[in-house]
Amino acid sequence: MQEAWQTPSACRTLAFGEVHVWRFALDRPAGIVRQVETWLAADELERANRFSMTRLRDHYVVGRGILRMLLAQYLGRRPAELEFRYGPWGKPDLERPRVIPSIQFNLAHSGPRGLLAVTIGYSIGVDLEHIRPLPDAGDIVSRFFSAAEIAEFLALPERLRLSAFFNGWTRKEAFLKATGSGLANSLDSFDVTLSPCLPPCLLRVAGHPSAARRWSLYHLDPGPGVAGALVVQGAGHQLRFFEAPDPEA
Ligand SMILES: CC(C)(COP(=O)(O)OP(=O)(O)OC[C@H]1O[C@@H](n2cnc3c(N)ncnc32)[C@H](O)[C@@H]1OP(=O)(O)O)[C@@H](O)C(=O)NCCC(=O)NCCS
Repeated sequence: MQEAWQTPSACRTLAFGEVHVWRFALDRPAGIVRQVETWLAADELERANRFSMTRLRDHYVVGRGILRMLLAQYLGRRPAELEFRYGPWGKPDLERPRVIPSIQFNLAHSGPRGLLAVTIGYSIGVDLEHIRPLPDAGDIVSRFFSAAEIAEFLALPERLRLSAFFNGWTRKEAFLKATGSGLANSLDSFDVTLSPCLPPCLLRVAGHPSAARRWSLYHLDPGPGVAGALVVQGAGHQLRFFEAPDPEA
C-alpha cells in the first residue's frame, strides 16, 4: 500500500472504525527533548535514565513525548496529565481512558523513526523495521518462524527473500503487540503471509481455529527502506496516515 501521509489540521477526531497511523522522527533538537521530558512520569524518566547511550535515551523520551502529545490531543487533555498502566507483558494502556469504548494505541520505533497507531475499542499492534542486508535471515526464519512460513520463504526466489523476511518479522511482531503478549507467545504458533506478491494476511493461530478471522493485518509503508505492519482486531477499518507535528508546549 502506498500511503498518503498527511499533515493534520489542529482538530483531532477519531471516529469508531477509524485507525490513525502517525509517523515521526525521533531525532529532535535538544530543546524539544528537554521540553517533552517535563511531560514524563517518574517511571518513564527512570527508564530513560537507564539508557547508557544519550541518543537512545533521547529517542525513548521523544517517543513517549509524542505518544503523550498525540493521545492528549484526542482526549482534550495536557500531555503530562496522562497516566499509563501496563499489561502483564508490558503493553502500555491509558489508566483512565475517559471514553468507553476507550482509545487503544500502540507505539513502535526502529532507529530514528517511530510509528503510533490509534483506534477506538479494538486491540491494536504496530511494528516497523529498517530493511537492511541480513545474511542470517534464512537461519532466523528456520529457527523462529512457523512451518508454513518457512515453506513459503524457501519457495521464494532469492531476490524476494529480504523483503519477505522483513514482512514476516514486522507482521509477526505487530500481531504479538496487538495481543499484548510480546515474545511471551511463541513466534511459530501462528502464520502470516510473507511474500510481497501476496496480500498481507494472518492465516492461522494455533489452537484457535477462528482467531485468524478476528484480526486484520495491514502492510504499512512508513518510508523508503522501512517495512511496517499493523494488526487490528475486527475488519473493515478505515486507515488514515499522518505526519506528527513538532511537540508544542
Ligand atoms: C517489547 C516487544 C513487544 C516489542 O519490542 P521491539 O520490537 O523491540 O520494540 P517496538 O519498537 O516494536 O515496540 C516497543 C513499544 O511497544 C510497546 N510495548 C511494550 N511492551 C509491549 C507488549 N507486550 N505488547 C505491545 N506493545 C508493547 C511500548 O510502547 C514500547 O515502546 P516504549 O517502551 O518506548 O513505550 C517484544 O515483542 C519484543 O521484545 N520483541 C523483540 C523483537 C524480536 O526479536 N522480534 C523477532 C520477530 S521475528
